[in-house]
Amino acid sequence: MPIRGSRKPPGPKGWPIVGMALKIRRDPLNVLRTFAREYGDIVLFHVLMQERILLNHPDFVEQVLVIQQDKFHKSELTRRITERMLGQGLLTSEGDFWRRQRRLAQPAFHRSRINEYGATMREIAQAHISGWRDGEVRDLAQEMTALTLDNAVRTLFSTALPGEAQQVGRAMTFLMRYSLSRQRSPFRIPESWPTPKNRRASRDLAFMDSLVYRMIDERRSEKSSNRREDLLSLLMGAMDEDGSQMTQKQLHDEAMTLFIAGHETTAQMLAWTWYALSENPQAEARLQEELDGVLGGRPPEAADFGRLPYLQAVMSEILRLYPPAYITAREVIEPCQIGEYEFLPGTTILFSQWVAHRDPRYFDDPDAFRPERWLEGLASRLPAGAYYPFGAGPRRCIGQGFALLEAAIVIGTLAQRFRFRLVPGHPVEFEPLVTLRPRHGIRMTLHARK
Ligand code: HEM
Repeated sequence: MPIRGSRKPPGPKGWPIVGMALKIRRDPLNVLRTFAREYGDIVLFHVLMQERILLNHPDFVEQVLVIQQDKFHKSELTRRITERMLGQGLLTSEGDFWRRQRRLAQPAFHRSRINEYGATMREIAQAHISGWRDGEVRDLAQEMTALTLDNAVRTLFSTALPGEAQQVGRAMTFLMRYSLSRQRSPFRIPESWPTPKNRRASRDLAFMDSLVYRMIDERRSEKSSNRREDLLSLLMGAMDEDGSQMTQKQLHDEAMTLFIAGHETTAQMLAWTWYALSENPQAEARLQEELDGVLGGRPPEAADFGRLPYLQAVMSEILRLYPPAYITAREVIEPCQIGEYEFLPGTTILFSQWVAHRDPRYFDDPDAFRPERWLEGLASRLPAGAYYPFGAGPRRCIGQGFALLEAAIVIGTLAQRFRFRLVPGHPVEFEPLVTLRPRHGIRMTLHARK
């Protein structure tokens, strides 16, 4: 029993075990929000006989991510979903090993380094849209995946994956659906059985592995005089105090983690941006006016951002309403007190950016897309733990600066050239996989701006 004492947090009672699992599997976003609304700041619920604690108060989020962070690990839940693909990379590793790896990767994300990536990102954004024509229909979700993938591999790994972006996008979609549906299903067929889905998962994993190993091998075969000082070389050159280097498997896990984390989340953020702007033409017009006035047609640079407050407000609002990382999980490893309850090791704790960012206690008219709220000093009024699209504390996203620079460059470049309008009748639906994705993509018509 993970909770000490006889009193337990409130939560839904009387749900049949499989019924609850199916409901969460079908519509996790609504279920979590309903739990928060009906049962309050700490909710106890069960999924397939296992207890879960959902925290819905900023103070409690702050307790877990920052104040008492050493009493928690990434959860078994997260590991089960991501382990086959990411192994022991930065996202999932723990303890001294994680600390060492984080220290190692950190220089690649230093502000001065990230600003250097800006030039490459601008080039890629401009090249990507050079063939786009007025009146065409494109899936902006797919386009944003291709664009962010290109940015990640060219800046962090100094290489390119020509022609493979679509295949990576398809493999990622399948693998996320596959691992989550296995995780959420009450009936699990062993992965070794040659079912069509298991076979496809093995094929897609092998394809992703081959890309990462190719990047590593390419670098190994380069003459040392030609070697670039990018993330991959930092990882490859890293030595332990005893002089040993990372094993091939460790290098693979770190590179794969950064390869995936480095593009997938930002791609979703950008896809939702074009959808939200097309649904809110007034916000779109205000953004374009600001961009035209400050940039006059050229792509933005980091130095411009201070003069683009509305662009920044749009990005904050997108990350509020469509947080790519919409849920966070931790496992208690030492007894801890949260609110009036004491939790014991083994307890799985969840909290959700999706629920928190739409909490009416902190955000007026929470479901409305209103970037203006950020121009009115909202960020300084919010308590810690109320808005955390990049997490918080020591496990905070290492790529936050990278993602924000990339998003600003892509939005600033594309919005000056085009307006995008959803193809009439195209269904837009959330698909909460590992990231928050649009289930059917975002098919839009391009309207070139004069
Ligand atoms: C809009 C884009 C992004 C969002 C919303 C996002 C969100 C997050 C969040 C919420 C976490 C913390 C997870 C937790 O506490 O369990 C995280 C961690 C992480 N992110 Fe991001 N991320 C984004 C972009 C990136 C990029 C561009 C990179 C790399 C280039 C990256 C690499 C990582 C890594 C390696 C971690 C694990 C850090 C650690 O535990 O030390 N992310 N991200």
